[in-house]
Amino acid sequence: MRDFITLDDLSNFEIEQIFRLADQMKEQPATWAGFCKGKILATLFFEPSTRTRLSFESAISRLDGRALGFTDPTSSSIAKGETIADTARMVANYADLITVRHNWAGSARVMAEYAQVPVINCGDGGHSHPTQGLIDLYTMIKRQGNIQKKTIGICGDLRYSRAAHSLAIGVARFGGQLVHIAPSGFQMPEWVITKLKHLYGVEPTKADRISDVIGNLDVIYVNRLQAERLPPGIDLQSAQKAYQLNSTIMESAKSSSMIMHPLPRVNELTYELDGDPRAAYFEQSANGVPVRMALMVSLLGLEHLVLTKPPEQEIMEDLQQCKNPNCVTGKEDYILSKSEVLSSQPMVRICSYCNELKD
Ligand code: NCD
Repeated sequence: MRDFITLDDLSNFEIEQIFRLADQMKEQPATWAGFCKGKILATLFFEPSTRTRLSFESAISRLDGRALGFTDPTSSSIAKGETIADTARMVANYADLITVRHNWAGSARVMAEYAQVPVINCGDGGHSHPTQGLIDLYTMIKRQGNIQKKTIGICGDLRYSRAAHSLAIGVARFGGQLVHIAPSGFQMPEWVITKLKHLYGVEPTKADRISDVIGNLDVIYVNRLQAERLPPGIDLQSAQKAYQLNSTIMESAKSSSMIMHPLPRVNELTYELDGDPRAAYFEQSANGVPVRMALMVSLLGLEHLVLTKPPEQEIMEDLQQCKNPNCVTGKEDYILSKSEVLSSQPMVRICSYCNELKD
């Protein structure tokens, strides 16, 4: 049984197979109707969502499966104090596949440990958003042909954006060059930088402003300020004004480049760009349906997925608590801290739930 909690749960080869399946599903959607007949998808959304939940529901419906779930956590027993582990055990009796979005980093991993059916992470706090990462890679490959040697600029709130974290790891795995463009205080977290270096040998270039690097970029990926996750004391209004992509800045970009955004946008991407042929963000969100159809069919074992999973990282129990205050290990008592060794010389360890660096 396979879960999809971070991009590292699938090998590059498996991702490519899923993309080939997504191509077929996009081209001939009717052929795939009936593929998930009798299958039930649970959508457990403890945080707001439009695209992710609806595209999963659309995807399972197109395959003739059904979806059940909730979008308001106050209507579930979690509001009565039920743990993630018990919720996972229960829901696994009602569904063949679980999608979950939750505000604690590492929560989807805990759910996967207790559910007897595959679990797909639809966003766990500020940690990762691997299905968005898949869709982003797929959309880049569709427009640019491949990712290898392309220069991908990720611009905006890189610190708190889980979509940016998954994207950076995906781009590094497929041989792209990364440029991180973030205002002060919103730079990519150290755990992502460390993973990029130790697991994939990638050291991103950094820039303060998009206008400094725009002419070099093949992909301009913008994301919004993750206002719901900012610590207290940050001046939201001035942080929000710190970056914006508009048509004046785009005048210096390559004609072959593309603009991406996981959406929703606030004011970091102006509406005047929507008519620009380089704007790919609505295409990106539309790709959410075939990519998620292909992922579900693969995880349910309905289409042969050649197993070439990357080697497991060494995971060990760890008495030292994770220092991330939003990590699931500090939220529910039965969850033991675990860590993963990225390098033994020098010793580099990360929390195996939220990936925060351990001392
Ligand atoms: C993203 C998320 O929830 O992390 N949304 C999405 O799924 N497309 C990005 C965001 O909310 O900014």
